[in-house]
Amino acid sequence: MTVTLVPSLTPPPAWTVPPSSRPLDVLGVPGQINLDYAASAPCARAAADAVAELLPWYASVHRGAGALSRRCTLAYERARQTVGDFFGARAGDHVVFTRNTTDALNLLARTLPAGTTVVTFAGEHHANLLPWPRASVRLPVPAGPAEAIRALDAALTELRRGATARPPVLVAVTGASNVTGERWPVAELAWVARRHAARIAVDAAQLAPHAPIDVTALDVDYLAVSGHKLYAPFGAGVLLGRGDWLDAAPPYLAGGGATSHVGAATHDVRWATGPARHEAGTPNLLGAVALASVCAALDGADRVALHAREQALLARLRDGLAALPHVVELRAFGPDAPRVGIASFVLAGRDSAEVAAELAARHGIGVRDGLFCAHPLARRLLTEAAARSGHRDLPPTALRASIGLGSTLDHVESLLTALAELG
Ligand SMILES: Cc1ncc(COP(=O)(O)O)c(C=O)c1O
Repeated sequence: MTVTLVPSLTPPPAWTVPPSSRPLDVLGVPGQINLDYAASAPCARAAADAVAELLPWYASVHRGAGALSRRCTLAYERARQTVGDFFGARAGDHVVFTRNTTDALNLLARTLPAGTTVVTFAGEHHANLLPWPRASVRLPVPAGPAEAIRALDAALTELRRGATARPPVLVAVTGASNVTGERWPVAELAWVARRHAARIAVDAAQLAPHAPIDVTALDVDYLAVSGHKLYAPFGAGVLLGRGDWLDAAPPYLAGGGATSHVGAATHDVRWATGPARHEAGTPNLLGAVALASVCAALDGADRVALHAREQALLARLRDGLAALPHVVELRAFGPDAPRVGIASFVLAGRDSAEVAAELAARHGIGVRDGLFCAHPLARRLLTEAAARSGHRDLPPTALRASIGLGSTLDHVESLLTALAELG
């Protein structure tokens, strides 16, 4: 066996994985019906191809002069550019690679100027509730998009009332709920925030896999995204947004790569500005490249058609659930509110964890059960579901089915048939 230790700059053909003609096909295992995209979506062919193509070149990023290292550095920075372009980054925005959305929002929380008030809603995922300072304002879960806009306007009016100084305010909202799939009126909330001289951060973990997002068009200051929900594996996420707070804050992690100068004395450190300031340590090259490859593939796809297909599947799923007398859907907004491919529900008289286990064991169907890391919202919606349906025997946790690029009508029908049998 011949082992080539140092490949030339042009990889031999055997190493070059031909790009898939269907980059948005997703990988999976025959016989397994994955209806748990909202937790982690399967890997897109585009991501798998990009990783396979880069793997022979695998070497240090930003740290080597060799051909392999230079190529990896280039690939990493190109990935940053691709992701930034995909989400409409402005001049002056930074695209910081993180581990996931949780990491991105924690990073943002660490960069808040002193005295910043954060305003959130109680309907958020824990990742967008827990990182914020204790004195944050938490608004109740609204009954619909219009109420969310009104409530935010009222809260910001109150915060600014009588104040001569205007301390920083950050509004942190989700783009789509991971419990109900309901979409939040991001552009309108951004407009309200702007009217009160507040900034706005959008947790796009659930929206990004389903809809185009452009921070410039939406006038959103920060965006947080997880690669593993966007058809890219390997634990890469992104915090994208205004560079000023990021550059003024202490580095998220202290260490190599985040400095521009380190002297002999312990205090003699100058931190880098730009994304490097918050990316100390060797970065996740494959994660960044995989995520960028999905962004590029989505950019070249007919997203209107993808959306229409997903909405048709979602409509069938929700109609099917509504037709089962022992099933109650969870929702915060009205039944016709726009939503992404997520539906949460309970079976009257059945423990949700047991139902999920039976779906897996007997039907090869994977769904999520629990309170979905959004405990305040999920508990409230379970109470509301009991009141709306009149069922007195609803369980204390729920089930969630979520769909995406690889989902088919057969998958949805299999779930509905199985749930009918479980009634
Ligand atoms: C709306 C929302 N925000 C944030 C997160 C956290 O994402 P991650 O676990 O990738 O950090 C999730 C994960 O389910 C989510 O659904």
